[in-house]
Amino acid sequence: MTDEAIALLAPRIGTRAAGAVSGVPQATWYRRHRPAPHRRAGRPGLSPLNPAGPYYKTGCVDPVVPVVLECSGLRKSFGGRVAVDDVGFSIAEGEVYGLLGPNGAGKTTTMRMVCGLLIPDAGSIKIAGRDAIGNLEVKRDIGYVPQDVALYPDLTARENLEFLGRLHGLGGKLLAERVGEALNLTDLADRGNDRLDSYSGGMKRRLNIAAGLLNHPKLLILDEPTVGVDPQSRHAILDRVQEFGRQGLAVVYTTHYMEEAERVCTRVGIIDHGRLVAEGTRRELVSRLGAQDRIELTATGDPEKLADVARSVPGVTSAAVADHAVHLIAPDGRHLLPALLEAAEAAQAGVTSVDVVEPDLEAVFLHLTGTALRE
Ligand SMILES: Nc1ncnc2c1ncn2[C@@H]1O[C@H](COP(=O)(O)OP(=O)(O)O)[C@@H](O)[C@H]1O
Ligand SMILES: [Mg+2]
Repeated sequence: MTDEAIALLAPRIGTRAAGAVSGVPQATWYRRHRPAPHRRAGRPGLSPLNPAGPYYKTGCVDPVVPVVLECSGLRKSFGGRVAVDDVGFSIAEGEVYGLLGPNGAGKTTTMRMVCGLLIPDAGSIKIAGRDAIGNLEVKRDIGYVPQDVALYPDLTARENLEFLGRLHGLGGKLLAERVGEALNLTDLADRGNDRLDSYSGGMKRRLNIAAGLLNHPKLLILDEPTVGVDPQSRHAILDRVQEFGRQGLAVVYTTHYMEEAERVCTRVGIIDHGRLVAEGTRRELVSRLGAQDRIELTATGDPEKLADVARSVPGVTSAAVADHAVHLIAPDGRHLLPALLEAAEAAQAGVTSVDVVEPDLEAVFLHLTGTALRE
C-alpha cells in the first residue's frame, strides 16, 4: 500500500499512530475518544474456559483505546444442530482479531450474526457501544467481506464498487472518491476499468475487500479472505490487513490457516465445534502448552494407525493426523524419539521423516481439542 493510500484511511479511522490525526494532536484525540466507563468495567467473559480472560491480566488491549465490538453468549442452532455455542469476545480499535478454527467450526455463522445477517438464538452484540441486534443503524459501522466473492462478473471493478457504494447511500463526488480510495487500498487502481471476469481469483478477492471499505467502517470483517488465492495475492492481502489494523481499524479475520493467524493477528480466538476454546496473543496461547514440543512424523502406511500407536507411547500427550503427517505434542520431544521410532517399527510403519519444532498455534489447537486444525 502506498503512503497516500494509508493517509487516505487515517483521518477517518482515528489512528493511534504517533503525531496528529486529522490535524488533531494525539493527546487531544484520546481525550475526545476516551471510552465510556462501561467499556472499561465488566467486559463480557472472553472464553468459556477462561472467563477472566487474558485480556485484563496481560493488559494487551490498551484501556484507553475504544472497544469497537463486544459480543457475549452468542448461540445459533440450525434445525437442532448447534453451530455456535456461547461465543463471546471483544475487539478494540487497531486490533486484528483472528478467529481460528477448522471448516465447520462456526466462524461464518458467528460473523453473520455480528453483521446482522443472522439473528442469534441468544447473546448480545455491541458495535461502537450500540446494541447491534435488530439495529440497522449499526450496519453503517461494519464492512463485511463475505467468504464467497459477491460481485458481478460482467461489470468492471469500478462499476461493481459504484453499484455497491450506491447501496450504502453514497453518490456524486463522494462516491467517486470512495471508489478510487478503495481501489487504491487494494492495489487495483490500474485495473479499475477491467471487467471482473478478466480478474484472477486473487484480484477478485481484493476487490471483495475493497467493497467492504466503501462505507468507511469502524469494524472490518474478513471471512477467510485468502481461500483459493495465489501466493502473491495472499501476501498482498495479509499486508493490507496488517496495515488496516495499524491505522486503527478493528478487524476480525477468520481463517483455518494457522500461519495467517500467526502473521497478521494481534490476538487470536480458537474456535472448535462452535465453542471458543481459548483466546490470547500468540505468545499467551503457546505458553499454555508449557515446555512441550511439537513433533511431525511422516511414514509409509496408514497415518491414522501410526497416530494410534504414537498415542500409546508414554509421554505423548496428543496425536492427530493432518496433511498425511502425524502431529504429536510431548514434553521433551527429542528424548521421546527412540521410543516413537520403536513403536512405529513394531506397527510396521516406515518412518520417512521426523521433525521436532517449536510449539505454534497448530500445537495449541491439538493440545486443546485433541484434533488437528488442518484436514
Ligand atoms: N444456513 C445453514 N443451515 C444449516 N446448517 C448450517 C448453516 N450455516 C452453517 N451451518 C452449519 O453450522 C456449522 C458451522 O458452519 P460455519 O459457521 O459455516 O463454519 P465455518 O465458517 O467455521 O466453516 C456447520 O456444521 C455448518 O454445516
Ligand atoms: Mg466459513
